[in-house]
Amino acid sequence: MNKRTVIIIVALVSLVCIAVGANFYFMYYLNAEEIPLSSTRALENVIRSKIRHLKPSYLNRNPRFFMYRNKLLKNYKPAAYENASVLWDIANWWPHENEIYPQYDSSMGQLLQTLRLEPITKVYNLARGTQLKLLMRLANQQKIIFKPQWYPRDIVIDGPVYGGKDRHVAEVYAFYLGAVLDFRSTPIVVGRIVNLKRDIYERGDNELQNTMTITPEENGTEQYCLFGKCHYCNEEETVCGDEKNNIEGVLIYIIPGQLSKKRSPWQRTYKDDKRAPWEDDMNYCKALKGKMETIRLLDLIDVAIFDYLIQNGDRHHYETREERVVLIDNGKAFGNPNKDHLDILAPLYQCCLLRATTWERLQVFSGGVLTELIDRLSKHDALYPLITDKHKRGVERRLLVVYAVVEYCLDREGEKMLKNL
Ligand SMILES: *[C@@H]1O[C@H](CO)[C@@H](O)[C@H](O)[C@H]1NC(C)=O
Ligand SMILES: *[C@@H]1O[C@H](CO)[C@@H](O)[C@H](O)[C@H]1NC(C)=O
Repeated sequence: MNKRTVIIIVALVSLVCIAVGANFYFMYYLNAEEIPLSSTRALENVIRSKIRHLKPSYLNRNPRFFMYRNKLLKNYKPAAYENASVLWDIANWWPHENEIYPQYDSSMGQLLQTLRLEPITKVYNLARGTQLKLLMRLANQQKIIFKPQWYPRDIVIDGPVYGGKDRHVAEVYAFYLGAVLDFRSTPIVVGRIVNLKRDIYERGDNELQNTMTITPEENGTEQYCLFGKCHYCNEEETVCGDEKNNIEGVLIYIIPGQLSKKRSPWQRTYKDDKRAPWEDDMNYCKALKGKMETIRLLDLIDVAIFDYLIQNGDRHHYETREERVVLIDNGKAFGNPNKDHLDILAPLYQCCLLRATTWERLQVFSGGVLTELIDRLSKHDALYPLITDKHKRGVERRLLVVYAVVEYCLDREGEKMLKNL
C-alpha cells in the first residue's frame, strides 16, 4: 500500500465516522425533542398538527350514539308527579361515592319537574364562598341552593380564565354534560324564573331582607334588588329583575353526605406576575404519580376534560365525597366562546393517563352530537337555550382538541395509558 491509498482510506473512514456520528446525534436530538415536550408551546404545536390529521371517526358521527341518545331523552323527559317528598326521599338515597344520580331512573323526569314547580317557602343568605348564593326551602321541605343570573348569554368575559361572576346557565349545562358523558358527579340542576318580591323577599328571613333594596317607581310599582351576603357581595353590585321583578336563576341540589375540600395540584396562582410550578414543568405529573392514588389522578383527569370542554378554569380546590371527586361549582364556565385555555387540560397531557370508560364515552359523541344532544335534553329547561351557538361551537372545537391530546398520549404511552379503575 502506498502513502496515497492510506490517506484515502483514512479520509473515507473519517467521513463515514462523521456521517454515522452526526446521524446518531441527530436522532438523539430528534427523540429529545419529541419526548418529553419541553413546553406548553411545543405541545400546542403537536396538538395543532394532530388536529389537522384527525381520523374521520373523530369528525363524523358514531352510529353508537343512537342508543345512548334515545335512553337519555327518555330519562330526562319531564313527567308529572304527585308527591314531591316521596321523590326526594328516593333521590336522597341515590348518591353513592361520587355518583350523585343513577344513569337511568324513571324518577328523574319527575324529580326535575319538582325543582321547576314546587313553591319556594323559605329563603336565606348562604354566606359560604365568594359568590352570591341563597339557600331555599321548597314546599316539600327539600333544601336547595339558588344562584341568580348576572350576565346575558352572550357576555364575553375578557381577562384571566377565572374572571367574572358566576354564569348561572353554566351550572345547568354542566349537569347535562355530566349526564351525557357519564360524569354523574355534578349536582342535579334546573333553571327557573323566580320573583324577587314574592319568591325571595316575602319568603326571606330578616337577614336576607336586609340585603335587598326596594325602590318605589313613579308609576307606583316597586323595584326589588338583591346584593346578598358573600365574600365579593357589596351594595353596588345588585341583581334586579325585569318590570315584574322576575329574575333568572338556577336551583342546585345539595349533595348529601360529607364533602371534603382539597387543594388542586394544578391550582393557579391567581397573580399575573407569578406562575405555578405545573405551568412550566411538563414533567409535573411524574412526582404526583408517586404521591397520589391513581384513582384520584384519574378523577382529576376526568375533571380536566369536563372543565376544558366548558372552559372552567377556576377549580383551585376540588371536593370529594367518599374519597371520590365531585364536580360542584361549575359557574365559572362559558366566559369567552372564542378562547380555549389549553392548560385546563394539563392533567391529561402531563400525566397521559385516562379512564378507559371515559375514552369510550367521549368517542360516542363525536361529530356534533355532544352539543346537539345536550341541546335536546335541556329543551324543557326554563332557561333554554342555555348557551349561545358560539359557545356550542366552542365545546365541539374543544372536543376535537381532547381527541388530539389523547392521540398524542397514545403515541407516547400506547394503550397502557388507558386504565380500568
Ligand atoms: C307525601 O308523602 C309523604 C310521605 O312520604 C306524606 O307524609 C305526605 O302527607 C304526602 N303529601 C301529600 C300532599 O300527599
Ligand atoms: C314603571 O316604571 C319603571 C321605571 O320607569 C318601568 O321600568 C316599568 O316598566 C314601569 N311599570 C309599568 C307597569 O308601567
